[in-house]
Order: sequence, then structure tokens, then C-alpha cells
Amino acid sequence: MSIHKLEDKVAIITGGASGIGKATASLFADHGAHVVIADIQDELGQQVAASIGFKNCSYIHCDVADEEQVKAMVEWTVQNHGRLDIMFSNAGMIRATKATTNSDQNILDIDFVAFDRLFAVNVRGMAACVKHAARAMVEKKVRGSIICTASVCASSGGDQDVDYFMSKHSVLGLVRSASKQLGPYGIRVNSISPFVVATPLMCELMGREAEETEKIFEGLTKLKGVVVKEKHVADAVLFLASGDSEVVSGHDMVVDAGFLVK
Ligand SMILES: NC(=O)c1ccc[n+]([C@@H]2O[C@H](COP(=O)([O-])OP(=O)(O)OC[C@H]3O[C@@H](n4cnc5c(N)ncnc54)[C@H](O)[C@@H]3O)[C@@H](O)[C@H]2O)c1
Repeated sequence: MSIHKLEDKVAIITGGASGIGKATASLFADHGAHVVIADIQDELGQQVAASIGFKNCSYIHCDVADEEQVKAMVEWTVQNHGRLDIMFSNAGMIRATKATTNSDQNILDIDFVAFDRLFAVNVRGMAACVKHAARAMVEKKVRGSIICTASVCASSGGDQDVDYFMSKHSVLGLVRSASKQLGPYGIRVNSISPFVVATPLMCELMGREAEETEKIFEGLTKLKGVVVKEKHVADAVLFLASGDSEVVSGHDMVVDAGFLVK
């Protein structure tokens, strides 16, 4: 018999139209949650909500870089579902102007237009989602769970994409501070830090299909014979969202097949 770990919980997943967010939306719904997918890819988001079933899942357009849209999206969720229990703040990007610049965002040639857009989404957008989710939880006295997507890049340096690495380091600062400030309300805040997963974001950056992308990074992990997939990340997010992690807060959970082990 399967156990529903999120029965009757209301969850928002930003960036839920694709990749890690999509896999998590599906898993949360399987565990009895009502999921609100918030994304900027409207057609894809609607398709994902339809495939999960509109009874358990809805889609709303929200650009997390715009605080008003984040506020409205959280308000819509509370109005329609009565409360908010879980925020998976996951939306992110890796190279803002890939289509318009050749910069690989090495510190010697960093493009600050790209830098600003990336920070607006990965840092300010992440903070806006935590802010408005927490306000809704505090107002309704919900002992909620907030999970932010960081990365193994939050604990290492990179040969390029310095802005991305900086943005993910910021996510850990946000999570550690917010977990202290929201602890008195019984709200937990944690992050998830995946190794490379061959999602559209990563495949587009690499200019390769999923299988080829996975092959490129295969040799970098300590744990052999496995490839980190969306499902592995979703399982870890489920743990942090559910009562299984009742006493875990301010923690960064790496899902990296041992990549960061020294
Ligand atoms: N794939 C990886 O290797 C990897 C590794 C570590 C961390 N991450 C992080 O995981 C998260 C999810 O990425 P993914 O790999 O699933 O990629 P993805 O491209 O499959 O999904 C990202 C989703 O975020 C949405 N999004 C982008 N900007 C947005 C905005 N301004 N407002 C709302 N939605 C927006 C996109 O439309 C997309 O649906 C990101 O934060 C990413 O940085 C990914």
C-alpha cells in the first residue's frame, strides 16, 4: 500500500513546467498534494497540469523576477485552496542572454546585462517567493515547509558562469537566514543542491541531447553506476516537504552522487 506523504497539502512549485520542477509536481500530486505550477512557459505549464490532472494540479503564469506577480500568485493560491503548506522555489536560469551574447560569463568578460537578469530571477526571485510564501504561512498559522533549489555550484567555484555560481551561493545565504527568522513561526526552510541533471536548461547550455550531456559529466561523481536524474531530486524534495523531515531546517541537501566529497 502506498503512503500519501502530502495528503491535502497545498504546494506551489515555481519552474514546474519543466525538468526538476515538473518531476516534483508529479510526485507531490501522487502523494496527495494539490500542486500549483508557476512558470513563464504557459503552454508547457498547462500541458503538465493537464497530464497530472486539473483536479490535483493547476497552472498559473508567474515571472518570479516580478515581485507583484509572485505576490499575486501566492494570493491566488490561498484564495483558491485556503492555505499554502509548501513552497518549492525552484525556477532558475543559467545563462541569461545565451541567444544574444557570446560571453561564457568568465570574470574577464562578464556581461552585466546578463548578470542582472540572472540575479533578478535566481536571487531576487528566489527571495520574493520565500517572502510571500512565508507571509501567507504566518498569516494562516501554517507550520509550512519552504525548499529552494540551489546547486552543487553553491559550494564550489566554476571555470565560467561566475554569475550563476554567485547566484547559487546566495541561495544558501537566503535559506540559512530565512530558516532562523521563520523558525519561531514553525516554518522550515531548506535547500536542495543537485549535481548536473540533463534537463532542458542543462542540455541547452551544453548544446547537446540528454544522453550526451549525461556522458560528459559521468566521470565526475564518486558514486559510480548512477546518473543523477530529475526523479532523484524530486525524491529529496519530497523528504524536505513532508513530515519525514520534521526537525530539519536550514539544511542544504546535496543530491550529487558524491561529486562534492573531498
Ligand atoms: N539541471 C541541472 O543540472 C541543475 C543542477 C543544479 C541546479 N539546477 C537548478 O534547478 C532549477 C530547475 O532547473 P531545471 O534544470 O529543472 O531546468 P528547466 O529549464 O527544465 O526548468 C526551469 C524552469 O524554470 C522556469 N523559469 C525560468 N525563469 C523563470 C522565471 N523568471 N519565472 C518563472 N519560471 C521561470 C522555466 O520556464 C522552466 O520551466 C534551477 O533553479 C536550476 O538552476 C539545475
